[in-house]
Amino acid sequence: MKTVVSGIRSTGNLHLGNYYGALRNFIRMQENNRCFFFIADYHSLTTHPDPNDLFPHVKSVLTEYLAAGLDPEKSTIFIQSDVPEVVELYLMLNMHAYLGELEKTTSFKDKARKQPQNVNAGLLTYPTLMAADILLHNADEVPVGKDQEQHLEMTRNFAKRFNNFYKVDYFKEPVAYSDGTQMIKIPGLDGSGKMGKSEGNCIYLNDDPKVIEKKVKKALTDAGPTEPNSVKPECIENLFTIMKVVSAPETVAYFDEQWNKCEIRYGDLKKQLAADIIAATDPIRERIREIDANPEILRRAVTLGKEKARESASKTIREVREIMGFRSF
Ligand code: TYM
Repeated sequence: MKTVVSGIRSTGNLHLGNYYGALRNFIRMQENNRCFFFIADYHSLTTHPDPNDLFPHVKSVLTEYLAAGLDPEKSTIFIQSDVPEVVELYLMLNMHAYLGELEKTTSFKDKARKQPQNVNAGLLTYPTLMAADILLHNADEVPVGKDQEQHLEMTRNFAKRFNNFYKVDYFKEPVAYSDGTQMIKIPGLDGSGKMGKSEGNCIYLNDDPKVIEKKVKKALTDAGPTEPNSVKPECIENLFTIMKVVSAPETVAYFDEQWNKCEIRYGDLKKQLAADIIAATDPIRERIREIDANPEILRRAVTLGKEKARESASKTIREVREIMGFRSF
């Protein structure tokens, strides 16, 4: 049986990128793997969130995890900060993480550009904390979207380096798991890049259907094709990319054909896309309302998760301490 570990930062509500890049695969994988899915609240600290937001953000991600179908009996669902062993492993791995490689990380360079007034050490060592999350449970596979590819590669490097330095064969080198062979990137509705909270271009799982319609209607498009079978510009390709994950293949084929014949009407495409996004996310919204009415469900899930995660984590920490030479009197 494979061990699977993954998490999502608690920065607010989850969007379609989180769902199709990660959460949907969590749900699939929990059926026949040993799964650890957590809410990365320590990771959310890099942007200095208001303390009043921290708990509500954790709560909404947990609610959405369960509403989307994660089952606390099948998976270990926990809050990152409920398992402080991760901080110890983070410290240990940091002793073998080098400034040059951390500074070169794409996510660090992006964030340093976006928040030049707050280039903190947590931001720099974000990949080591993520590696600690994964290695703490010795994962074989990590379901993540394409934007996390580099962090996973660094995790493998840290694992390899630890094994080589201490001459052991202790940590596995975890690989990405994505739906199919390619890692998914859900684009935003603003014509370029990925869907992301800090990009402000998201459709959230708990957006009201009216809001979803409005957002899709406003998505960037061009003046339309002028020649049959032409290459789609990025903003149009993006709408098709989202359509491919939420709509039936016949729907995608229909609009593709309309495009190729230069007969496409973006208004029709957007109406269909919005309807399909709403249909795909409706059951999740319904379940969110049920969970909101019964917060005991959340308490039960994390109490169980914390216990199971700490059991696995403390075993790793005990063994890593032994390997590194810590001894008790
Ligand atoms: P975060 O919170 O930025 O994103 C959570 C997950 O959602 C995926 N994702 C996307 N996938 C496709 N298209 C998008 N537009 C899109 N936006 C987000 C991300 O790839 C990710 O899988 N560092 C992680 C959280 C983390 C983690 C871990 C993940 C902390 N420790 C250990 C796995 C294992 C992150 O920033 O995710």
